Amino acid sequence: MKEFNNSVYFNETDYYMQSIKLQEFSENHETPFYVYDMNFIINNYNKLKACFPWENVKLHYAMKANYNPHMLKIMKENGFCLDTVSPAEVIMAKKLGFDSENILFTANNMTDAEMDLIKAQGILFNIDSLSRLEAYGKAYNGSKVCLRINPDVQAGENDKVVTGGALSKFGILLEDVHKAIAIARENNIKVVGLHEHTGSGIADTGKVFQSMENLLNIVNPTDFPDLEFIDFGGGFKARYSPDEAVIDYVEFGKKAIEMFDKACENYGRKLKLYFEPGKYTVAESACMVIQVNTIKNNKGRLIVGTNSGFPHLIRPVFYDAYHHIVNLSNPNGAPTVYDIYGNTCESGDCFAKERAIEEIRVGDYLAIMNAGAYCRSMASEYNLRPLPSEYLIYNEEVITSKKKLTHEELADRILKDYGM
Ligand SMILES: Cc1ncc(COP(=O)(O)O)c(C=O)c1O
Repeated sequence: MKEFNNSVYFNETDYYMQSIKLQEFSENHETPFYVYDMNFIINNYNKLKACFPWENVKLHYAMKANYNPHMLKIMKENGFCLDTVSPAEVIMAKKLGFDSENILFTANNMTDAEMDLIKAQGILFNIDSLSRLEAYGKAYNGSKVCLRINPDVQAGENDKVVTGGALSKFGILLEDVHKAIAIARENNIKVVGLHEHTGSGIADTGKVFQSMENLLNIVNPTDFPDLEFIDFGGGFKARYSPDEAVIDYVEFGKKAIEMFDKACENYGRKLKLYFEPGKYTVAESACMVIQVNTIKNNKGRLIVGTNSGFPHLIRPVFYDAYHHIVNLSNPNGAPTVYDIYGNTCESGDCFAKERAIEEIRVGDYLAIMNAGAYCRSMASEYNLRPLPSEYLIYNEEVITSKKKLTHEELADRILKDYGM
């Protein structure tokens, strides 16, 4: 199936992103590169927001999914809010003009120094352990906080992205909520928000509703008299394979609002509703284009070598994730089964195994789909290969966001980083 990703489409002879013909673009721009459809991202964000018919809904885009500053700047201009996880994310967001009240900081295993730095930026903390709440309470007696609660539900597209359940390092266990309330009271801390995040890429919306219910069950005016919002985190599913079903988030939103409305009624006033979609916002907006330089026939197994590797797109190796791959140069070629490998000195550096792709020749450009989330942001320079260039397509125009370094420039930069 050639067309399943809204940001890349096929018109019978060529693949496009907006009006950019990707094969032609690849011939004129050094590969590997990531190319993002900015309008797609903005539409996705607004589309998801519209799924929740509630007076006061805020989506904090989880910038860990992709922190490209040009992308963030356009997001800011289009009214996005942010969920951040590190001091540098907060500092960069502020420098790009995001207001403190539109940034949340979801700390995990934060140090005292990090806490002080973020606090000085005027950002609300989402605190996820009793010990950190105690440290925060002692340091900032009388201030506001959001508490991250472990929803006691396990869900997500891979074990590594499940964040709920008793063995998770994230959140305060439901059975410890009374301890968190006591710590907050001792230190005059106002709990203005309650938060949960169950996992990433959750296909089973039943599990999400269970998490929401578990969190809403602790919402009451006696324990939490100062609540302003409830935050149900991220985890909205992007569609990585043409075989995957599309989740109906309009239906999901209706049911979520029904539950939320009831909880607000019991609480005594209408609270604000927050979510933190990372993957859903950006995953399908992009592809990474790589070039084939080697083809081996190993006893009948066709092994394709390319000019990129897992340091640029780690999800297949790290999460066993499926990323759809198409041949931009031969889109109507006969489907043939290949293993698509990267160029690092690791035998596991593989983008896809036994995958049917339009016939591949040396020199062909391949597009790895859904490269918008957790690809560039998880990338590294392992084996000392320069990170790919990044292009944003916004209103049909190409913005060159970052140029790939040459090998010489990379070597020089490393030497400079080490003071040599
Ligand atoms: C607290 C929190 N919020 C939001 C997200 C974003 O999740 P996703 O990209 O699956 O929407 C994460 C992901 O790790 C997270 O930990």
